[in-house]
Amino acid sequence: MKKAETKKTGNPGGDIRPIVCRDGKIFFLDQTALPSRTRWLEIGSAEACRDAIARLAVRGAPAIGIAAAFGMVLASRSCAETTAEGCRAHMKRARDLLALSRPTAVNLFWALDRVEKKIEETLSNSRGSPKMLEELEAAVEEEALSIQREDEEVCRAIGVHGQKILRDGMTILTHCNAGALATSRYGTALAPVYVAKERGLDVRVFADETRPLLQGSRLTAYELLRAGIGVTLITDGAAAAVMRRGWIDACIVGCDRVAANGDTANKIGTYGIALLAKLHAIPFYVACPLSTIDLSASGGEDIQIEERGGEEVVTVMGRRTAPAGVNVFNPAFDVTPNRFISGFITEKGIVRAPYAAKLEKLKTI
Ligand code: MRU
Repeated sequence: MKKAETKKTGNPGGDIRPIVCRDGKIFFLDQTALPSRTRWLEIGSAEACRDAIARLAVRGAPAIGIAAAFGMVLASRSCAETTAEGCRAHMKRARDLLALSRPTAVNLFWALDRVEKKIEETLSNSRGSPKMLEELEAAVEEEALSIQREDEEVCRAIGVHGQKILRDGMTILTHCNAGALATSRYGTALAPVYVAKERGLDVRVFADETRPLLQGSRLTAYELLRAGIGVTLITDGAAAAVMRRGWIDACIVGCDRVAANGDTANKIGTYGIALLAKLHAIPFYVACPLSTIDLSASGGEDIQIEERGGEEVVTVMGRRTAPAGVNVFNPAFDVTPNRFISGFITEKGIVRAPYAAKLEKLKTI
């Protein structure tokens, strides 16, 4: 497949919704440019979509899934095959390409599976009709839009269920960005904070800056400030001291993949926050859409952790901060064992330990 082409455009959307489909065109808010610049990328092909996911122009587990679904939309538009078999092969190539963009967030594979099922249904029903390509395009686009719409409803429901653990005047610590920028809207970990604000509660946030790519300072601080929510930015190393001062009432983080037993992969550093929370007797919650639960992974050891290039660690915003030649280890995620998690805030309610049977039931009903 050919090298990706991405056009930079003006703002096509309203408030924070990182993925916009307007007049048939697909735009991603370029999260690598935030907070200094608001730049929209018009994504023109599955290859461009794969590149945008891999370089974190679009990021956060649910948003990666939605983006990949729109990548399949673009692939369907470039399909010129005349047989159902040919279309299947074309779409499978696009799926395989998108599936290689990032390995940890299961939402990517979950969304691709949904789209693949829709493709199969459409191709089987069309039985080689002259309208096959048109029907394929329409079906894939409808599925991508449904995934995006449903994600908004799911995030909203997480926000509402999250009210059970929030009270007026509370301060939450979060890590990375699991806000609106990481989803279709509202976010997961930040959804309870947004819903609390709508209901007139004063809930404040401490945001870890989240080295190496600074999602906490560049994205979480940005979106909370825009929403008028009190946010204090701290370096990752300050979390323990802030907890010790008694300033944190609860931690809420997002997740990229939750294994059947509740072990949770999320941004590197999350495990450390969970340990600190335990030592300071602070509840530690994971906001978790059911699409992020992977029952095929029995425990954290089954979750593939993405390792990224060393240049992210030896530089800060493009400026070199370590000597040339130093060895670097740069895992993008870590796994928090289930015993450090006080509960999962899902769209169906809050789940508490023991997790295995409850997560399975939620996923399968
Ligand atoms: O590498 P990123 O920025 O994609 O990592 C994002 C996270 O770790 C989020 O916490 C997670 O995807 C949940 S987003 C609702």
